[in-house]
Amino acid sequence: MARILTGIQSSGTPHLGNLLGAIIPAIKLSKDSKNESLFFIADMHSLTSIRDPKSLKENTYATAAAWIAFGFNTEKNIFYRQSDIPEVTELMWYLNCITPFPMLTNAHSFKDKSSKVHNVNTGLFTYPILMAADILLYDADIVPVGKDQKQHLEMTRDMVGFFNNIYGDTLTLPQSKIDEKVMTIPGIDGRKMSKSYNNFINVFLPDKKLRKQIMAIQTDSKGIKESKDPQSCNVFKIYTLLASDGDIEQMEKNYSGGNYGYGHAKQALYELIIDKYSSERSRFNKLMDQQDLIENQLQKGAKKARIIAQSVLKRVRAKVGYKNMT
Ligand code: TYM
Repeated sequence: MARILTGIQSSGTPHLGNLLGAIIPAIKLSKDSKNESLFFIADMHSLTSIRDPKSLKENTYATAAAWIAFGFNTEKNIFYRQSDIPEVTELMWYLNCITPFPMLTNAHSFKDKSSKVHNVNTGLFTYPILMAADILLYDADIVPVGKDQKQHLEMTRDMVGFFNNIYGDTLTLPQSKIDEKVMTIPGIDGRKMSKSYNNFINVFLPDKKLRKQIMAIQTDSKGIKESKDPQSCNVFKIYTLLASDGDIEQMEKNYSGGNYGYGHAKQALYELIIDKYSSERSRFNKLMDQQDLIENQLQKGAKKARIIAQSVLKRVRAKVGYKNMT
């Protein structure tokens, strides 16, 4: 049996990059009866950027609703909110004390944001340590993520090495699982799709707003009659991630044949999303009207998660030389 674990920050509604890069592949793994899955909402990580308590709460439910709408079975698996498991911050402290400072200064996530944001908080700096604690607190074996999290997983593995070298075999070495095809989903401007670049597609938006986001995908200025190169076009790149082989081939022909504008391609992408995700969109909206139902599932999940967290923490406390609480 393998234990699968992954988390999504609740800094907004999960976008197409989160869905294709993490949520959908993770749910697929969770359907294998040989696996045990722990999926959570990283609402403590979101505190590095979200300061409004109302948004933090609302985003947590939206993130949870996305997992459930895409078919995560919260009864069979463990589904919880990071902030419901206080043990994670205790483990984080132990990891803080064995992690060399220069390792964190090299984190891409910190370097990227620290160059743009003048108000850098310490939470952003120690973010990879909280993430490592998320993983190691549950003896996770496999962590499905997008490519942008690869370095964080490598750091987590280094922390296991540092800790186990000092205290003996204690923490489980996790492995990242990054799906080649969806490891970096491009946003509407061609850069990595990201909440912080504001270049995302939110498939849960009402039709009109979703269409507006898709119509805003950046393209070159070739006229409708001209033949176009599909491989360098953002609309086509996103389309290939969702469409069937036959439809992709047809769109390629449309691009090279001329008399097919970017507006046509965008409309095709919009219709594809509406059609492909119609049941997920409607489940998401229903769930957002039943937040007490989501809350109930998260609380049940937290109870199950804490049992594992407490047993791992007990092992860690004994190793560092602390008395275990009775
Ligand atoms: P977050 O919330 O930024 O992203 C959640 C997941 O979505 C993936 N992802 C993408 N994949 C492909 N293309 C994209 N454009 C794209 N954008 C995002 C991310 O790689 C990630 O898998 N630190 C994490 C959350 C976290 C976590 C954890 C993950 C906290 N603790 C423990 C795994 C294990 C984060 O900020 O992800």
